[in-house]
Amino acid sequence: MKITVIGAGNVGATTAQRIADKELAHEVVLVDIAEGIPQGKGLDMFETMPVEGSDTRIVGSNSYDETAGSNIVIITAGLARKPGMSRDDLLAKNAAIVKSCAEQSFAKSPNAFFIIVSNPLDVMTYVALKATGLPRERVLGMAGVLDTARYRTFIAMELNVSVEDVTAFVLGGHGDSMVPLPRYTSVAGIPISELMPQDRIDAIVDRTRKGGIEIVNHLKTGSAYYAPSASAVEMAKSIIRDKRRILPCAVALQGEYGLNDVVVGVPIKIGKNGMEEVVEIKLSDEEAASLQSSADAVKSTIAKLSVFD
Ligand code: NAI
Ligand code: 2OP
Repeated sequence: MKITVIGAGNVGATTAQRIADKELAHEVVLVDIAEGIPQGKGLDMFETMPVEGSDTRIVGSNSYDETAGSNIVIITAGLARKPGMSRDDLLAKNAAIVKSCAEQSFAKSPNAFFIIVSNPLDVMTYVALKATGLPRERVLGMAGVLDTARYRTFIAMELNVSVEDVTAFVLGGHGDSMVPLPRYTSVAGIPISELMPQDRIDAIVDRTRKGGIEIVNHLKTGSAYYAPSASAVEMAKSIIRDKRRILPCAVALQGEYGLNDVVVGVPIKIGKNGMEEVVEIKLSDEEAASLQSSADAVKSTIAKLSVFD
């Protein structure tokens, strides 16, 4: 098992470290355009392995040569928004970065599974899908696992119970329009509507939607990376170990949930073949309308892409 992580920033480096600590691969290749950064971080991580008791070898590079023959490629490269930049500026810049990273990775590892992390997530997953020409089963976006982890954490905090006992789903695009599903949320099998009043559920749903900006407001210089990297690794692990987890991931839809030609977060079965099934759960009219408007928001951003013109 060889895994490439593109982008050696906060999310990428932490992702590589988690994979190595868990010994999920025999080799991790960390690639970034910044000279010295992937080499330095990669060597530092490699030197951790005797202490961790893991035989994962970590290689840092500015070139894609070392990535050849990877089984999984995780793309975390991308810019964060800076003062004076519009969302569309960021979209255009990250689309160009993700397109180039996906094309170069694919050229060296045509049989890899791709997990996309760069934002705006759903649109960047669409970009990677188009750039590689791979079937949708092999190009998946990470956001739902993170959004659901935040939602589960807030519920466990509220009820003072183990996070492990909270089961939940957050669907839709990774943004304000995401769709947490309280009807499918339970604690050890008990529906949350039995455990807390509706106004507390509404407050937790709202905090989940704003989970990303809550961390940015604390950090001020960047965005979250511990939970995002853990979430990307959760997806990779389900492929590596053929666990067939049911996880909310961004995937191109072909009629499921009545949606077409859009990448959006839905529950999928994820195993050794990548996305093995889109799991279609029954949605109420209100939930279906929220998912539709989330998909519409992603579609309108895809329409602004000029990277394939
Ligand atoms: P960061 O700024 O710490 O790291 C980004 C890295 O990408 C930098 O090291 C930079 O040199 C590198 N990079 C830029 N252009 C590149 C290229 N063409 N090839 C290779 N490397 C390149 O940012 P961080 O915190 O690691 O976030 C990375 C991305 O992930 C951002 O777009 C962020 O918004 C997104 N993100 C998405 C999440 C999700 O839930 N999907 C969660 C957290 C972050
Ligand atoms: C987050 O939700 C920035 O998308 C990133 O933390």
